[in-house]
Amino acid sequence: MKLHPVNRIDGHLTLAGDKSISHRVALIAALASGTSRITNFSSAADCASTLSCLKQLGVEVERSGNDVTVRGANLRSPAGPLDCGNSGTTMRILAGVLAGQNFSSTLIGDESLSSRPMRRIIEPLELMGAKITSNDGKPPLLVQGSNNLKPITYKLPIASAQVKSAILFAGLGTHGRTQVKESSLSRDHTERLFNGFGVNVVTDQDLTVTLDGPAQLVAGDIRVPGDVSSAAYFIAAAMLLPGSTLTIDSVGLNPTRAEFLSVFRKWGANIATENLTTEQNEPVGTVVINGGLNSNSITQSDRRLDGAQIPAVIDELPLLAVVGSQVPGGIEIRDAGELRHKESDRLRATAINLRKMGCEVEEYEDGLAINGPTPLKGVPLESYGDHRIAMAFSVAALIADGPTEISGADCVDISFPEFFKLLDELTVN
Ligand code: S3P
Repeated sequence: MKLHPVNRIDGHLTLAGDKSISHRVALIAALASGTSRITNFSSAADCASTLSCLKQLGVEVERSGNDVTVRGANLRSPAGPLDCGNSGTTMRILAGVLAGQNFSSTLIGDESLSSRPMRRIIEPLELMGAKITSNDGKPPLLVQGSNNLKPITYKLPIASAQVKSAILFAGLGTHGRTQVKESSLSRDHTERLFNGFGVNVVTDQDLTVTLDGPAQLVAGDIRVPGDVSSAAYFIAAAMLLPGSTLTIDSVGLNPTRAEFLSVFRKWGANIATENLTTEQNEPVGTVVINGGLNSNSITQSDRRLDGAQIPAVIDELPLLAVVGSQVPGGIEIRDAGELRHKESDRLRATAINLRKMGCEVEEYEDGLAINGPTPLKGVPLESYGDHRIAMAFSVAALIADGPTEISGADCVDISFPEFFKLLDELTVN
């Protein structure tokens, strides 16, 4: 994909449904009693992986564009391996669902997913009574489930919504209290959706999530809010290009996901939120961006991202690094070692690409220090097969000097197939 610098962003957007919420709604609807109608389901290839796994498990799924109807069913043993594609969320949360089923199933994935760590779900699910074999902690996973799992109290060694969710899904069929304790809050869509679909889940002050089993999910109709992580690329592009105006409607603003908006504001972006409301337990609103950064009052602490803030910006960190290259004094990201275990090693990929564009970057085991403001050069870059790297550097390309060619950029389909078409429609030369 060849991208050219542009003058500004101008327009109005409505986005397909949130990827994290769509995965969970599909799994919940599959286990629920009754038929669920989902509108604005994610267009991401990852969420299609979840739907196709569910079909293999005997669930009736009908899809027409972004409308999906799911008839809840007793899952049945699949005829072949369940292909999770590139999707870590599919594999990890589905493993939690399958842990509670009285049959065995095999979960496989593409090359990237096959190199990602799975012990984080194997350990708690085995404590509950499932048996999971893996390739030295990596996929493929053979899950020997049981409909007699035990509830556990489990302290998450890393803040991970996927692990938390796998345990909560497995907890549904147990007799007793399942508790998951986090040290910093990761995205809480599973908890909000369980409450909306008839299963009471409570999170207390010290981030312990409690579910009492056995608990039966009940079907419902839901509209998935627009994907805030997809919105992030357009928000960043608009704020980096003075004179831009962009409005994004009906986007999810869950605080465990929308933290990057506060960071952008601290860095001097002009971003407003309007029409704030709650849809099926999720905060939703309109985001309005006026281009240009006013970084006069930025402080030293504003330029550092670390600690409990990291889980709330985890998927936006490559993009935050790109934007950080334009912040006076630069930025530093720490406590983000988890980025090395995403669809690519995102710390490495981000450092290499930013350096190629002319930015001074220091790489640490758990983060990056990025010098700014740096005028970026258009150069050939790699996506590393990682959708978020491809999109973050597409934004960088818009403010670079000269054209930028990103190889393997079609991986954007993993989360945001409309990305390049929308970018083309919204940019003004
Ligand atoms: C996700 C959780 C995050 C995130 C991923 C989606 C989810 O991963 O990076 O893109 O939907 O639960 P971890 O839970 O491993 O941090």
